[in-house]
Amino acid sequence: MSGGPVIAVDGPAAAGKGTLAKRMAAELGLPYLDTGLLYRAVGRLALDKGQDPAAPAQHLAEQLTRQDMARSDLRTTEVAQAASKVAAQPAVRAALVETQRRFAAEQGAVLDGRDIGTAIFPQADAKLFITASAATRARRRYLQLGGVLSAPDAQAQLAEMEAALKARDEADSSRASAPMQVAADALVIETDNATADEVLAQALAYVRERLGR
Ligand code: CDP
Repeated sequence: MSGGPVIAVDGPAAAGKGTLAKRMAAELGLPYLDTGLLYRAVGRLALDKGQDPAAPAQHLAEQLTRQDMARSDLRTTEVAQAASKVAAQPAVRAALVETQRRFAAEQGAVLDGRDIGTAIFPQADAKLFITASAATRARRRYLQLGGVLSAPDAQAQLAEMEAALKARDEADSSRASAPMQVAADALVIETDNATADEVLAQALAYVRERLGR
């Protein structure tokens, strides 16, 4: 399939896939790709053009550049929602498949996303599905975006964040094209009661066993 091992890390919004996948890639000496950035960059371009993210965006996906993916304004909730809307379009997903496969072609890779183990690399050497309750994920994303838990409006902000994550999960799981699903052969890791270090240790032990190294 490729010159090196392919490791798929899937799961719902703000489950900690990115942190885990990046650290795992460093430990294993593999390239790392955050595939969510592809969809976020396409969503960002649609918003910049004043286009409804639900309107056809295939042309934006086909013209995506490295600079588009390197922008510093891709991590907002608004962009995440636009990403989910463009990601539901089969033509957008089709335009991004080769980019993802090519990325892993030479050395293998760790990729995080929603459909890596099910659609992009169904033959991946190891598959992980990282999840946590919506409340835990909302708290993590709130803090990641600079929120302060002692702020007077923290509870309202957390509730809003949780509702937004749930809505996006629902859209990502129910779309017809490559919905978010747990691959039959994935190891599911629940991260509510685990530190990032514990999750990394568990994931690495599993992946090393699968790779025989
Ligand atoms: O960081 P977070 O988990 O909130 O989101 P992300 O991984 O950056 O993904 C943003 C959106 O892109 C998701 O809600 C999905 O709709 C879409 N996505 C996808 O459809 N397939 C992927 N492999 C990665 C992301």
